[in-house]
Amino acid sequence: MNAIYLDNHATTRVDPRVVQAMLPWFDTHYANPGSSTHEPGRQAKEAIDDALIGIADFFGAQADELIVTSGATESNNLAAFGICLHPRQKRRKIVSVVSEHQAMLGPLQKLQKLGFEVRLLPVQSHQDSVPGQIDLTRIAEEIDADTALVSVMLANNEIGVLQPVREIAAICTQYEVPLHTDATQGVGRIPVDLSELGVDLLSYSAHKVYGPKGIGGLLVRGANARVKLAPQIVGGGQQSNLRSGTLASSSIIGMRMALDIAKQTRASESIDHWKWRDRLWQLLANEIAGLSLNGPGWGSEPCQDENGRLSGEQRLTGNLNVCFPKVDGQSLMLEARGVAVSSGSACTSAHPEPSHVLRAIGRSEDEARASLRFGIGRFNSESEIEQAAEQLIHAYRKLAAFVA
Ligand SMILES: Cc1ncc(COP(=O)(O)O)c(C=O)c1O
Repeated sequence: MNAIYLDNHATTRVDPRVVQAMLPWFDTHYANPGSSTHEPGRQAKEAIDDALIGIADFFGAQADELIVTSGATESNNLAAFGICLHPRQKRRKIVSVVSEHQAMLGPLQKLQKLGFEVRLLPVQSHQDSVPGQIDLTRIAEEIDADTALVSVMLANNEIGVLQPVREIAAICTQYEVPLHTDATQGVGRIPVDLSELGVDLLSYSAHKVYGPKGIGGLLVRGANARVKLAPQIVGGGQQSNLRSGTLASSSIIGMRMALDIAKQTRASESIDHWKWRDRLWQLLANEIAGLSLNGPGWGSEPCQDENGRLSGEQRLTGNLNVCFPKVDGQSLMLEARGVAVSSGSACTSAHPEPSHVLRAIGRSEDEARASLRFGIGRFNSESEIEQAAEQLIHAYRKLAAFVA
């Protein structure tokens, strides 16, 4: 790929160490880990069990709290339908947020059609102190004795805003309501520990953290009697009947390697990404009058505590989302072809809709369409950031000259 890849929220390059770890699982250790009748099968099971322990450990969890899925979409579906459609579920209300990913909003829309009351809470506007963040008091007001599930994402995939999940968990515990978080964009970028966050269910995908596509997980806190899940994929009874299907050995090994690497590199990478994001913003803002930020701002320096956590951050450090005055984001992307980014419209249909996240923070349709999202990742460099800024400024000037 020749383009400068700044779309690391969409997906990440598979780390070469992950690829290496996966290879023998295609042509050497290919036995089914469910085949207990022969030695290759037993060996595969042993290795996969070990990988599952490692994966769960990344989240501060036990292996029996992990359900391996095909990714965050399936994990979100399993959390939503699994909880709400459990035969013993009596409650009929779900509380979530308007700016969740479609992978959560989709299941919620379906549950609404099935008769559930779905309350999607608003978020702070782009003029407020933390654009995109929810208001904790609204959560407390919405939860009641009929609430089956609360679901709030950890970090937003478009504007990078971090939600106060730990505080929401405290409210949910008080009301004995299970809390699910879609942590897909947080994993590998900020600390993600099941108990520390206090959530009952947590979804993620390996491909957002330099692992393979088509694999992820749902963590379910075992000790918590509030969570009863109805399986959504039934068949051979794997994974304690909660998600049937042969375990994808190569992908599980790759996912474990990706998370092991993330454990080692997260703290230093987040500082690099902070600096590159800041540099990109400064370069663009210095040259483009009226450029504005979507989502929360950041301080003058990355501030790390003794545990390698960035303190005071309300946003993923590698995320930048900006609104370019007067131009259309799609046209800007076409003009700056050497930079791979994504626009403020969902391009899943013939008529791209303006981003629901940007609309949720009060951006107009035109402003949303004039916005681009940048996702900085492990394989970027400062010089790439500078080249990308140069190309974008050049492209912007060309387009702006037409509308002047
Ligand atoms: C926050 C969030 N949730 C869920 C998903 C869906 O992940 P996957 O496509 O791997 O299932 C994504 C992917 O963009 C995401 O960013």
